[in-house]
Amino acid sequence: MQRILGVETSCDDTAVSIITDTGEILSNILSSQDDFHAKYGGIVPEVASRKHLELISIVVREALEQAGITQNEIDLIAVTHGPGLVGSLLIGVDYAKTLSYLLDKPIIGVNHLEGHLLSPRLFNADLRFPYLGIIVSGGHTQFMMVEDIGHYTVLAETLDDACGEALDKFGKILGIPYPAGPKIEQIALAGNPNAYTFSMPKIRDKTIALSFSGMKTAVSLLVQKMDPEEKEKNKADLCASFQEAVMKQILHIIQQLKPLYPFSGIAFSGGVSANQRLRDLAIHQSLRQVYFPSRILSTDNAAMIAYAGYQEYLLHGPMSLDFPVISRLEL
Ligand code: KG4
Ligand code: ZN
Repeated sequence: MQRILGVETSCDDTAVSIITDTGEILSNILSSQDDFHAKYGGIVPEVASRKHLELISIVVREALEQAGITQNEIDLIAVTHGPGLVGSLLIGVDYAKTLSYLLDKPIIGVNHLEGHLLSPRLFNADLRFPYLGIIVSGGHTQFMMVEDIGHYTVLAETLDDACGEALDKFGKILGIPYPAGPKIEQIALAGNPNAYTFSMPKIRDKTIALSFSGMKTAVSLLVQKMDPEEKEKNKADLCASFQEAVMKQILHIIQQLKPLYPFSGIAFSGGVSANQRLRDLAIHQSLRQVYFPSRILSTDNAAMIAYAGYQEYLLHGPMSLDFPVISRLEL
């Protein structure tokens, strides 16, 4: 049995996981920095990298303990080397390279987006290629044709904000702390999704794409007209309606792509795919098989990095120790 150590520090979560070559998760530790960044209303890169530096060795130790193995029993090290914040990426990559050198174990740099894209495969053995991989996170909103490991084509993406970013910015308007997505989901449970209408963007030239800037401006103008009492009274309706508009836009893209490509399934990933409203709407509206990662694997985690790293390693072998971090790494 092979054991793969995954390390993920691309943004604000310090995450380490150990999985086996059959996809069994032996440990999956995540130390979130949300409370620190909530104070500033978003991620402060310098704060994020300092926190990674404090946490990385503690989280690695915890992952080994939970898996019940020593570091010598690791067979492969997989680490996110992009896209993300350079300072944050460097902490994980340098730590992983040092471990690889000291333990004399192979290492592979992993694209964070490939981690998300393949994450639904970890618990859905019946998900077959080719599938429509939908990454909906704080940094990305991309619809990809996933033909095989390493064979990905972008079919549609956002023209401005990522959908998680749009939810977080909407949250800021209402004073909901960062990251707002999960809190909006909770508040929306008490609201009416049809209380306010945020119209679909008009995209030119028949391009299949998303855009959240119009919705953001509309909600911002609406809330500006409300006094604090009204804002509080309408909070649940605003959350439910804005969330609905974001999710419906995602589903609209699926409806446009479905007749054009021979997908065998539709697989969501990324933080926003943890949203139950999205899950309900997708299952209800889609005729073909819909897959989601387990909720813990939707948001950033290192099990998905270990998994994607192992798949790439099987195809291409390890990388040499001088591979770089690339903040704008593409798939
Ligand atoms: O994938 P992720 O953990 O990090 C990135 O790679 O960006 O995604 C984080 C994003 C944030 O914008 C957060 O507000 C959103 O995912 N998010 C959610 C939920 N959980 C996280 N959005 C809606 N509903 C949720 N339950
Ligand atoms: Zn992510």
